[in-house]
Amino acid sequence: MERITDLLSRMTLEEKIGQMAMVNADSHDINEDLYSALRDGRIGSTINQVDAEINNKLQRIAVEDSRLGIPLLVGRDVIHGFRTIMPIPLGQAATWNPDLLCQGARVAAVESASAGINWTFAPVVDVSRDPRWGRIAETLGEDPYLTSVLGAAVVRGYQGDDLSLDDSIAACAKHFAGYGATEAGRDYNTANIPEIELRNVYLPSFKAMVDAGVATLMASFSDLNGIPPTGNQFLMRQILRDEWGFEGPVVSDWESIEELVMHGLCSDNRSAAQAAAMAGINIEMASSAYADHLPELVKSGEIDIEVIDEMVASILELKLKLGLFEQPYTDPHKFPDIGNEKNIETARRAALQSLVLLENRDNALPLSQDAIRSLAIVGPLADQSYEQMGTWVFDGDDSISETPLNAIRAMVGDSCSISYVPAMETSRSQSTDQFEAAYAAAKQADATVVFLGEESILSGEAHSLANIELPGNQAELVRLLHSAGKPVIAVVLAGRPLALGNIIDLVDALVFAWHPGSMGGPAIADILFGVESPSGKLPITFPKMVGQVPIYYAHKNTGRPASPDLFVHIDDIEPRTPQLQTGMSSHHLDAGYEPMYHFGYGLSYTRFEYSQVEVLESEPRLGQSITVRANVKNTGKVEAEEVVQLYLRDLVGSVTRPVRELKGFQRIRLKPGETRQLTFLLKPGAFEFFGQDMKKRSEAGKFNVWVGGDSNAMTGTEFELT
Ligand code: GLC
Repeated sequence: MERITDLLSRMTLEEKIGQMAMVNADSHDINEDLYSALRDGRIGSTINQVDAEINNKLQRIAVEDSRLGIPLLVGRDVIHGFRTIMPIPLGQAATWNPDLLCQGARVAAVESASAGINWTFAPVVDVSRDPRWGRIAETLGEDPYLTSVLGAAVVRGYQGDDLSLDDSIAACAKHFAGYGATEAGRDYNTANIPEIELRNVYLPSFKAMVDAGVATLMASFSDLNGIPPTGNQFLMRQILRDEWGFEGPVVSDWESIEELVMHGLCSDNRSAAQAAAMAGINIEMASSAYADHLPELVKSGEIDIEVIDEMVASILELKLKLGLFEQPYTDPHKFPDIGNEKNIETARRAALQSLVLLENRDNALPLSQDAIRSLAIVGPLADQSYEQMGTWVFDGDDSISETPLNAIRAMVGDSCSISYVPAMETSRSQSTDQFEAAYAAAKQADATVVFLGEESILSGEAHSLANIELPGNQAELVRLLHSAGKPVIAVVLAGRPLALGNIIDLVDALVFAWHPGSMGGPAIADILFGVESPSGKLPITFPKMVGQVPIYYAHKNTGRPASPDLFVHIDDIEPRTPQLQTGMSSHHLDAGYEPMYHFGYGLSYTRFEYSQVEVLESEPRLGQSITVRANVKNTGKVEAEEVVQLYLRDLVGSVTRPVRELKGFQRIRLKPGETRQLTFLLKPGAFEFFGQDMKKRSEAGKFNVWVGGDSNAMTGTEFELT
């Protein structure tokens, strides 16, 4: 720390404020202006430069040609890979496998560090329950606990055991906070979240990242309860610094400081700089309100120099932890080859475990290579090496990608004739020109596999959708293929949950593949032909129709919970039905009250049976850990993996509590007939929530606990905490 105090004491005000500036350094910005700003110490970090030589050049100017030689933070979004691409984060979340997410982040860290990157802006730990929002693709789903466990694994993957190692990069939990509740799922929109909901749903995953040692956070663009996080002292000072004790740097989002003017919180960039500095935003990404106005704000006394010193010290501390003062340069030759076999294998395993089997009528899957002698491969996403990588793959190398079409061809070889008809130019096409050829291929083949979904551009930042059905005339294509009278297997690649109601009865099986990354092809082929049983589980609820949104499993019971005897479907209402006769409960007349697929759901090629859920403590006590045991048996004929999930319900609280909450999960592998007894330890924190007084507490009373393969698990028991 004394090294930082000493350095600070030697820094001019301009050099201090220089550390708070992050500038865009992609290739068209590499010029003499940038070099002279580096020499003057007016830049503390760069973003978007991925050429190792250029990054070394910029570092050398900062370190060797400036007065104090302070090295640069070099940032880049490698949120699910650098060159070798993992499934999108929402797809990785479907693996429910923290180790796999950690390995995936490690691949991204090593590949990007070789290019001179030492900071990435991930994990996205925004909880969201709105599939209209394009950035749902970047999240780890709708649940605070799952997001916390998986996000912490990603932090470990990026940061390694020691931030100063050459292949460790600083992680960044984003977008703090409440971005996932953006109104109407429309990106950059307002988020109005009551404080108690903020504390019980939207903040826990960020607190978990702080507890996991995340190096930095990023402020979100959104307007949170009228005060955008970039200028929100309640969020950035009271919660993050005072309550949580976080001392690392917070970076603004892209130009989000100057956007405080557009929000109408500030009248000009000068007041925006003041608002952001007072909120404790250490680094300004891409805009220059700090550089333009902080010197004068400090000189006029409107901002104390201590506020600046504290923020700059945090930045210098991170640079020290990263070892940049000792080793600012990268040497690509010291790193493993990009896209090496180990990285490819990680991408394949992640894709394999991310695939979720949503329908499998009459065991249409797995396909038998003996029985299937001809296969029609149809659809706009069967052979798209770029699209399968998904959103946020600026540096993704699609020459690494293995597409489903190629992987299936490689798998079946000469044993099965493949006829491939894309049928649509893009996932959005309205043309039916190739439909006849698709129909003919389906008619002649033993079965058809149709690859549907969204191109990658249809999800991600600024890509929200009001209609989440399959784009273009994909549904018409499925209807046509169904009419050929042969089995139709659908594989859906998308960056969000889709409303699949208009095709689901027309296919014999459906595998949801998210955007599965570089190795999506081999993973899909392995599942289709039964090399491995599907084991993915939904990290987010799939609605029947978009009008149900938000719909999620951890909902409140309401005073009039829906049930089959309190609901009459719109098609079943007789003429002149008396007003009070359709069931006075919380539902939609047309959609009912159940989603299409619930959180935690995913089929297997075998079946798992749950039994003997018990609480070991005879008198469970408030404030003590509770031990839950359960038996799981593979009652089918194939070895497979299952994600065993534990849900808890606090039946009565000083504020209403969700009907169930995920509090534990374990991924296990069982042979046919094998039974395993699992133990879950529920620590006191599992029972805690924020009450009306905004204080965290747990309360005595009755609880239900269930253990099962999805959020509808009904095998459980009741116990009382006293
Ligand atoms: C973008 C995103 C943020 C990203 C940053 C840098 O606008 O909101 O997630 O890390 O800018 O690319």
